Amino acid sequence: MTKIDIFDTTLRDGEQSAGINLNTGEKLEIAKQLERLGVTIIEAGFPASSPGDFEAVSRIATTVKNSTVTGLARAMQKDIDVTWEALKHAENPHIHVFLATSPIHMKYKLNKTPEEVIEASVAAVKYAKQFFPLVQWSAEDAFRSDKEFLVRIIDEVIKAGATTINVPDTVGYASPAEYGALFKYLIEEIPNSDLVKFSSHCHDDLGMAVANSIAAIENGARQVECTINGIGERAGNASLEEIGVALHIRNDIYQTETGLNLSEITRTSRLVSKLTGSPVQPNKAIVGKNAFAHESGIHQDGVLKNPETYEIITPELVGENKVPLVLGKHSGRHAFKERAIEMGFDLADDRLQNAFVAFKELADKKKEITEEDLLTLLTDETLEV
Ligand code: KIV
Ligand code: ZN
Repeated sequence: MTKIDIFDTTLRDGEQSAGINLNTGEKLEIAKQLERLGVTIIEAGFPASSPGDFEAVSRIATTVKNSTVTGLARAMQKDIDVTWEALKHAENPHIHVFLATSPIHMKYKLNKTPEEVIEASVAAVKYAKQFFPLVQWSAEDAFRSDKEFLVRIIDEVIKAGATTINVPDTVGYASPAEYGALFKYLIEEIPNSDLVKFSSHCHDDLGMAVANSIAAIENGARQVECTINGIGERAGNASLEEIGVALHIRNDIYQTETGLNLSEITRTSRLVSKLTGSPVQPNKAIVGKNAFAHESGIHQDGVLKNPETYEIITPELVGENKVPLVLGKHSGRHAFKERAIEMGFDLADDRLQNAFVAFKELADKKKEITEEDLLTLLTDETLEV
């Protein structure tokens, strides 16, 4: 089994979602739940960005013991100093320093030459290393960077003391095959690549963040950066729950171990949704309201005979309650009968048939058949035979 470290950035990149703003108490509550979920690293914030973020990162660093806590910093001494102040009492101090490496970012955003970007990155890593045993360096917009330039700069930051190298697809532009190939290339070409851990960090602009993260793992990444419910800048980050469950369910092909307590996933998702005010789309894999709901008659009949006909994941695996069969216009007699029995009505065949016909008529007119609707149908004396 290959160990994959789960680097959760819900409290940093996730909080960068438009409209999300968490206070220290809320961040602390989420961090404690992430610790229960068993994530390896919690990116608690960007301490130099605001006094509120500084306070939240310091509080989380002194409270959380079973996950490593980190903070983001630009490649400059003042950010590293502030981050050290916030993290110096952490069990296992870790810093995440980043600088952009793509031509477009270097020219228009940083106004630096590639040589200056190497120099600033090396200086930042060396400086951070005086305080932090664990220094992660990120090549922002790595996927759109020149590959040979990435080899050069990563080689230099490894020599400067970086312990983790993050290769983000900052704008969510990569395809799985391309992103995987980039990891393979870097790991093969960088002389001391075996001294560090390679990390993926994917955004979901083209809906490929989870697939790209998994492609990175297949090609040597040993850390994945992700967020609960996939929240994050623009279309969001790779979703932690989807990566964690995909690696578990398809362990036959991936052969990995994340250390996640999967039964905490639903609770964590609900907490993050509640505190961020960001609802989860109903059809979201793993944590959406409909993720385990079967509506059509053919599916319901199959699941009643053997859940494995249509369920590859049990709700229990992720700490979700067994979801009752949803009764709608596509539902069949088998599901209707089961639901009636669950509600305490063991009706004779003719009586059940009349109630089922009435149910179908009603289901054609309504979006959702409620418990009250069913009760009315099942107790309707005019449907007696
Ligand atoms: O998307 C990105 O490149 C980032 C970096 C700061 C790692 O979030
Ligand atoms: Zn990001």
